[in-house]
Amino acid sequence: MNENAMKTEVIPASAADMAPFIESVKAWTSDFALREGRAPRCHVLTFGCQQNEADSEKLLGMALQMGYEGTDDPANADLILVNTCAIREHAEKRALSIIGQFKHLKEQNPHLIIGVCGCMVAQEHRRSQLQKSYPYVSFVLCTSVLYRLPQYLAEVQARGKRLFKGEEELTVAEGLPIQRASGYRAYVSIMYGCNNFCSYCIVPYVRGRERSREPADVIREVQELVEAGYKDITLLGQNVNSYGKGRADGYDFADLLRELDRIPGDHMLHFMTSHPKDATKKLVDVMAAGKHIAHSFHLPLQSGSDEILRRMNRHYDRAQYLEILDYMREKMPDIAVTSDIIVGFPGESEADFEDTLAMLRRARFDMIFSFIYSPRKGTPAAEMPQQIPREVQNARFDRLLALQAEIAAEQNTPLTGTVQRVLCDGVSKKNSDIYNGRTPQNKIVFFEEPAPEGTWLSVRVDRAEAFALYGTVIK
Ligand code: 5AD
Ligand code: SF4
Repeated sequence: MNENAMKTEVIPASAADMAPFIESVKAWTSDFALREGRAPRCHVLTFGCQQNEADSEKLLGMALQMGYEGTDDPANADLILVNTCAIREHAEKRALSIIGQFKHLKEQNPHLIIGVCGCMVAQEHRRSQLQKSYPYVSFVLCTSVLYRLPQYLAEVQARGKRLFKGEEELTVAEGLPIQRASGYRAYVSIMYGCNNFCSYCIVPYVRGRERSREPADVIREVQELVEAGYKDITLLGQNVNSYGKGRADGYDFADLLRELDRIPGDHMLHFMTSHPKDATKKLVDVMAAGKHIAHSFHLPLQSGSDEILRRMNRHYDRAQYLEILDYMREKMPDIAVTSDIIVGFPGESEADFEDTLAMLRRARFDMIFSFIYSPRKGTPAAEMPQQIPREVQNARFDRLLALQAEIAAEQNTPLTGTVQRVLCDGVSKKNSDIYNGRTPQNKIVFFEEPAPEGTWLSVRVDRAEAFALYGTVIK
């Protein structure tokens, strides 16, 4: 894959561009309903990150707009959209294995249409694999042309053609219908793509160059969500700190957040993800002064070794990372900071790994997401010498988790006895006798008193553990 050959021209797009195709699919779904006595059903299956979840809400939104009904059961579906992830090999293998299982559904229902969307299909080798080895898959749809779902469906339905095209354009599409999974927590994409080319990462190749939505479009969407009663709104981008880069007026992410904070309501704003090289003190100041901005920050460190950071092409070192982290803690003592760590990057020595453990002790993250390095075809790190053996990676991974569990417990212990504001998520999925919710710092809290989803509660913390708080709702 060649960075220089990548498209940089950003094309504004809108749902209206799809009008004739939407009409064509609508005609198809109403014929189906007349013939079968029921509407055709669509199932969307999502792998990967929040960005993908947000994309899936648009895929389902478009399908419903064109006359489909949603279904949770793929066996009942007439249209299955698999929204894939490519970040690690494991994510791709799982998606391919599930797509493989859909073969028998296609045998039972020859009219079933299966489309594969998301990051995995932006890779040429995966598209040709799907085309050759998965004959029951009808089309692939790349994230940058997500808004073209009506066109792809219309072509498959009208001509029975299979479509396996690569990305042809970089778009910022507005006006797509969104079928939100929750009535009180929402994702709002503010930008798409990534320009960073960290040496291990596939994202810049599969999601294309950075492009930002217009501030007015983002502000309108957040305003509408607040008016509709949403309580927790997460702004999404691969690197939200480079929001607006290249704008003539210099308007940046901190400016956007400051404007969003002025929207009145009882909601909280979150955002992710931030790149440490671009996280500014201006942003921290806006957060500290804000009314609605949650004191939580996800700041991926990736490694605590300066040499590994250099070879990851991260453009910061430990000292720079700690400078912004210390500034955050100084301005917002109650802030929760979370991070991503990759273990077993090519050439990672025992000393490099010890540096990562030392950074964990110094940074005192509230939580980390840790990953074993996974070589991604086409990225520079996949070609680096000294790939680390699996056993060494696994042993380091276990040591990392054990240390972080200790730190997380120490971080949470002082919360015992405090009263926390908690957004209720209703009955716990694992235990129907217990309720749960999250603080603005994103800490999960369990309690016994029944309370409706989407309401704010005051909860006194009785017990704090590494990964959860336990408390009592105060009337
Ligand atoms: N292998 C392992 N982890 C990776 N991540 C990104 N690419 C890889 C890879 N090739 C991790 C990073 C990133 C998170 C979303 O996934 O830590 O921040
Ligand atoms: Fe999200 Fe990256 Fe996975 Fe794409 S590859 S779904 S952007 S985590």
